[in-house]
Amino acid sequence: MGIKTKIFKINRNKIDLKLIKSAAELIQAGGLVAFPTETVYGLGANAFNPEAVAQIFKAKGRPTDNPLIVHISEFSQLAELVEKVPADAKMLMDKYWPGPLTLILKASKRVPKIVTAGLDTVAVRLPSHPVAMALIHEAGLPIAAPSANLSGKPSPTTAKHVIEDLAGRVGIIIDSGKADIGVESTVLDVSRHPFVILRPGGITLESISKSFKVRLHKSFIDSSADIVPEAPGMKYRHYAPKAKLMVLTGTQPKLESSIIQLTKELKSQGKRIGVLSPFPADFHANLTITTKNSKHEFATRLFDSLRKFDEKQIDIILVAGVNARGIGAAVMNRLEKAAVYKVIKV
Ligand code: TXA
Ligand code: MG
Repeated sequence: MGIKTKIFKINRNKIDLKLIKSAAELIQAGGLVAFPTETVYGLGANAFNPEAVAQIFKAKGRPTDNPLIVHISEFSQLAELVEKVPADAKMLMDKYWPGPLTLILKASKRVPKIVTAGLDTVAVRLPSHPVAMALIHEAGLPIAAPSANLSGKPSPTTAKHVIEDLAGRVGIIIDSGKADIGVESTVLDVSRHPFVILRPGGITLESISKSFKVRLHKSFIDSSADIVPEAPGMKYRHYAPKAKLMVLTGTQPKLESSIIQLTKELKSQGKRIGVLSPFPADFHANLTITTKNSKHEFATRLFDSLRKFDEKQIDIILVAGVNARGIGAAVMNRLEKAAVYKVIKV
């Protein structure tokens, strides 16, 4: 597409307000700005301008039945977005905002239908990244933003990923380096009780359930069940690399030796193999990415790794899964969504 895309480098510790102002003006004028958040990069437009929001769907190639998250920088902005803020939802906001928690609340009549895909609820979040906060504050309006990737590609955790996907399709891309968390926010439906986690993410089930009654959506517990998607995004095969992804779980040393064995077998069938694991072993794969043995580090490197495997034309990616507690739930959810095979226990 033919738009000239400007790249603004903004240091999160020393924010250039002139650049923020220029990006905020583009949002006010109905344009698109890709910006960093603590989870992944977002692609933003004025949430109250339906034509501007329509451009987001067009730039990403996103189906219009998949609603967007509205990003705010001040609690006071909630008044024009939601019918009311129930007391328990307010407690969650006080505890987790700013931060990677998206809350589903009853929408006010003012929120354009294109933002909510016609649902009577709206997703809202107050991000903690200083550049995101400065941009929303300066724009003086709520910013609707999905992740800033082409639909079907892994979410972007660096500006380079955004440029790969969206250069020529958006007015401004802000580059503030790597995203801290690397997987998207937790989507929590607080419009019903008990609360339901529709997407595991940066804020964990374990943390929320210390103070609130909450359950995981049943699709995470029984993935074979025939379930109507409640976060419309659930029904799409997200985060899909071109390569086939195979996730193995188990304990050492069995897990490591299984990956070595599978790599050997699949290579002998002429496949190009990628391995993503915390093990320092030599797998003799075509591309091996070794993460430190921490779920947090795995989360920050997951989407970048998927893109790297595609660049190297890998046919099959073998991944050592993590245990699904804490941030591990978000990691395993993203892996399961990207995998074409069921998770294999070794
Ligand atoms: O961390 C994040 O959440 C990033 C950054 C940019 O904030 N954003 C993000 O947006 O991941 P997106 O559009 O890629 O994912 C939003 C998810 C989708 O699965 C969508 O279906 C769901 O939230 N969602 C949005 N509004 C909803 C609603 N009213 N009810 C249920 N699910 C909703
Ligand atoms: Mg997304």
